[in-house]
Amino acid sequence: MVTRDDRGLRRGGSRDFRDRLRGTPDEASRFVGQLATHATRRDFHFIAAHEGATGPLLGFIYGYTGEPGQWFDDRIRAELTTEMAVRWLADVYEVVEFGVWPAVQGRGIGGQLHDALVSSLTNRTAILSTRQRATFAMRLYRRHVWQPLLTDYRFPSSANPHPIIGLDLHQKTNR
Ligand SMILES: CC(C)(COP(=O)(O)OP(=O)(O)OC[C@H]1O[C@@H](n2cnc3c(N)ncnc32)[C@H](O)[C@@H]1OP(=O)(O)O)[C@@H](O)C(=O)NCCC(=O)NCCS
Repeated sequence: MVTRDDRGLRRGGSRDFRDRLRGTPDEASRFVGQLATHATRRDFHFIAAHEGATGPLLGFIYGYTGEPGQWFDDRIRAELTTEMAVRWLADVYEVVEFGVWPAVQGRGIGGQLHDALVSSLTNRTAILSTRQRATFAMRLYRRHVWQPLLTDYRFPSSANPHPIIGLDLHQKTNR
């Protein structure tokens, strides 16, 4: 069952959340710390998929409205032309994390999470960074008409290139 669950943050410390979606204890605590910070940002939405109404967490997607001065916004803004920054960042929802437990991938849960979040947004655009090799994710994004903004952006903390993609929420072409 896919539901909006902005208080999913409280479940962040649960064993279920850590074990299923974030491998090592270090990754788990970094993630929970980041989530606590992001939960204070404008329009924070956390959408969760559970087995049944109250069963284990199977996947989630979350984000918030980006603003100048924030780490991600500032870095992407610096890479875009002024025209692109106006178009894509003036009123942008940043999708931060999106994941489905590997054992249940390919059953439509990711698509449902994506659609539940996107259909709730009133922003002009949405933006996210993904991994070059995350082919299932890229397949889902292409089907939902996300567009490439930067093809191989390198975050300071990572040697790997990351595509930055955007969705025009006013076109409402999402399926
Ligand atoms: C991306 C992700 C969230 C999608 O979740 P999901 O529950 O598998 O999503 P869906 O079942 O809706 O499938 C999405 C697409 O991938 C395909 N797919 C997913 N898993 C598949 C598999 N094991 N075999 C074949 N196709 C698969 C689906 O067929 C679907 O393609 P379609 O839209 O053309 O029909 C999930 O794959 C994931 O957690 N990946 C690792 C983390 C990641 O990359 N997150 C995104 C970071 S931006």
